[in-house]
Parts: sequence; structure tokens; C-alpha cells
Amino acid sequence: MFVTVTVMSDKVYQVCINPDCRQTFGIDEILFGCPKCDSLLDVEYQWDRLNMPESLEFFETRWATKGFRAEGHLDFSGVWRFREMLQFVGKDDIVTIGEGRTLLEENDLVAREVGMKPQRLYLQYEGLNPSGSFKDNGMTAAFSLARLLGRKRVACASTGNTSASLAMFAHKTDPPMQGIVFIGTGRIAYGKLSQALDYGALTLQIEGDFDACLRRVIEVSDKLGLYLMNSVNPFRLEGQKAIMYRVLEARNWDVPDWIICPGGNLGNCSAFGKAFKEMYEIGLIKRIPRLAVIVATGANTLYQVHETDAVKWNGGRYDKGKVSALYKHMDETNYLPHTIASAIEISRPVNLPKALRSLEIMNGLVREVTDEDILEHKALIGRYGLGCEPASAASVAGLRQLIREQVVSPDDSVVCILTGHELKDPDATVKYHTGIDMKAANPPEPIPPTGRCANPPRKVADDLQAICAALGEKLPD
Ligand code: F0G
Repeated sequence: MFVTVTVMSDKVYQVCINPDCRQTFGIDEILFGCPKCDSLLDVEYQWDRLNMPESLEFFETRWATKGFRAEGHLDFSGVWRFREMLQFVGKDDIVTIGEGRTLLEENDLVAREVGMKPQRLYLQYEGLNPSGSFKDNGMTAAFSLARLLGRKRVACASTGNTSASLAMFAHKTDPPMQGIVFIGTGRIAYGKLSQALDYGALTLQIEGDFDACLRRVIEVSDKLGLYLMNSVNPFRLEGQKAIMYRVLEARNWDVPDWIICPGGNLGNCSAFGKAFKEMYEIGLIKRIPRLAVIVATGANTLYQVHETDAVKWNGGRYDKGKVSALYKHMDETNYLPHTIASAIEISRPVNLPKALRSLEIMNGLVREVTDEDILEHKALIGRYGLGCEPASAASVAGLRQLIREQVVSPDDSVVCILTGHELKDPDATVKYHTGIDMKAANPPEPIPPTGRCANPPRKVADDLQAICAALGEKLPD
């Protein structure tokens, strides 16, 4: 079967997620919320009127061309290889930088550490994206639409990775766009800040945290003609669905028992639920995995809403009063989120309703993990395979907790999403390993200089002795 994609705007549109509103809008209408009721928007497709594959195996026909980087070859992209699942833009408008060429690693060493049986734990390593995080999956989709709509300036608020990704895409788009990023002063990991600067985005350091940055970018975006690239942009989430297609592809289309991901602004988990719901409705999968969203204890809004206050999606009629009461309490107590996992240091996640929806679709749950847990698991993941940044490690720390609670069985097949690369935040890593009483620490051993400059003079024998002491071994004869 041969499937092609052309944009058919009557078969794809934006729709308000509020079941009592359901207002629809064209894909060319630039909106980041429903003008009628202020709810979030979805991209919706009339699947039965679109050319769709009959099974996921269809995508295997693209494996032969997946290494091609030639102009016009979309199979190189781990997002557009699955283009039938996001048919809102034609081939000619797609902006791709080779995103989504990532890895699903079966990792028995980490599995053993957290109490899973062999061959049951998989790590989906999104740090391999061109800008080093999963954000590129979404940016390619949102930039493609921005190009289709002829936008010239794009902007976002960010804890770092969104800004790095936006900055990278902005200059690679043809014609290039101006990237403007809003980041909180002193709250961004240096790896990410350096990317925004290097890639040439106008970088605005805003007094305040991520929530303040997002509010401020939304306030000015209309007046300045900025096209917003945060995950309130529903087209970004369309691209992030592809992370789930690749997980299935790497598992030979076998649906795992669990997907576990960190939660910040809650775009990723929102996209995952949508991806599985669509695949299920089209008949491409027969069951949907369970979802666990892991937040930091210092930024645990979703945990409080879903677990403590038991607010459930309830077909879209969730208890908004409880959410408002929580936010009011945060305001009254001047609550500010705080976690070492700066990527997820967010207290008012904009995608909260969509996250609740995903938790319903995927029979999901939310757990919170401490900074200590996050850093310990980051060190384990680093030691046994793939270096990731603190926020990513929340997924594995959450898995360990769920195994202890006997919610996840050691026999279940589990995919943890590692959202960003280790080198995004080297400060956190070095601080951990040089800290006091850190469980998985591997501190550097100081060895004094040798040769003429050393005072007092040192010999090779001195070095041998020091190195053997660090290795815990006897001196060789
Ligand atoms: N992991 C990393 C490495 C992130 O950068 C983010 C979000 C998340 C997890 C959380 O994902 O927002 O979809 O729930 N970073 C955003 C940013 C907020 O601005 O870069 P989410």
C-alpha cells in the first residue's frame, strides 16, 4: 500500500477540548486557547476521510530510506517517517533538522538496580536529538505550521530545552525566522542557556520563574506578532506523539505495559495519551499501555491535583474548582516551585487538563520523587548506559517507587523516557559527585603534580601509590 500526504484542511482542524464547547477552528487560525471558553485546543483529524495505513507494519516500508538525508526525503526524520499520523502540513512545508533519530535501549543493568527482571526495562533516549532533548520532536511540527502560515518570528518561555530547540530550528528554517526566548533569571542550566546564545536567539532573561515567563510571553505575543512555540501550541504536541510511534517501532510494534515520563508543563504526557488514543481508534493497536507521570516533590502540582485531590478528567468535566483552590493557595502562600530538576520546575502546568485526559486514556497515575532520588537515579542511569539530565531521571526514580509499591511488577515491560542529554546540566552532575553522603557518588580523586614543578618533588612511585589507593588495590610488585 502506498500512502501520500497532502494538506486537507476540511479533514483536519483545531477543536476545543472542553466537551461543553467543542468549537472548531481552521488550522490556519493562530490561537493558543479557545476564544470562547479559554480551554486548550487539540488538532483533530477525520481519519476515515484521510489516507491511512491499515497496520503499523506499513511504516516498515520506510526503513530502507531512513538513512537518506537528501532534500525531500522525510523518512530521515523520526517524526515525519510517521507522517500519516500528523497530516496537517504538506511535504513542501515541512521543516526538519533530522529530529527523532533516537534510541530505545533495553537496559538490564538499570533494571537490576531498580528491581526489574531482565529484558523488561527500556530506556527511550531522547537526548540524541539534534538539540539534545525531546523538544525537537515537537518543534519540527510547530515550525512546519509556522512556515505554512508565513510567520517570521517565533517565541517561547522555557526552562531551557524548548529555547535551545527553538533557537536551533529558527535559523535552519528556509527562510529563517527570528527566535525570541524568555527564560527565568538564574534558573536555567548552563548547557541550555549556551545553546540559545550560540544558535542566535534573542534571549530575554525575565525576573521570575518559568510560570512568570510563560505568562509574559503570552501577554506580548499578539502585539509583537510572535508565533508561540510552547506546548499550548497544539501542533507541537502532534510532533511529540512520534516518540510513542518510535517506541512501538523499536519494540516490533509490541505495546509495552507501562510508559513512564517526567512531568513539567505536561506537554509530553498529553501527546502520549493522544497518540495511543488515536492509534487505538484507528485500529492500529489493540491495547493501550498504562502511564506514570513523575513530578518532583518541589513542583508537584499534578500529583496534588490527581492523587491528593483525586481530580479526574471525567470526560472533560473535571473539578476545576479544586484546581483553582490549589492555585489560590499557592498565590496566598507565595509558593514558588523548587527542584534540582530545573527543566520541570513548574507550578502551573498549562497542559494540566490534557494531562488529566491522558491519565484517563492510559489508566495512569502520578508519583512525586525527591531531588535526592532524582540525582541518585541519574547517577545510576549514567553509570549503566545513557547520560541524562536530572528531570529525565525522575522517570526511573518513579519506576523504583512503583516497584516498591507493587504497582509495577518486575515482570512488566516498562519504557522510561529519558527526555534530555546529560550535558545539558553538567553542574548538577559534578555537584552530586563531589557532594557529601551521596549514595551513588563517584568523586574525582586529587593526585598532586609530579616532575620538576612539584614541590615537594614527586616520583612515579608516588603516583602509583595514590592511584592504587583510589582503586582500593595493593601496589603491583
Ligand atoms: N524533561 C526535560 C528534559 C524537559 O526539558 C522538560 C520540559 C520536561 C522533561 C517536562 O516535559 O513539559 O512536556 O511535561 N521542559 C520545558 C522547557 C518546560 O521549557 O524546556 P513536559
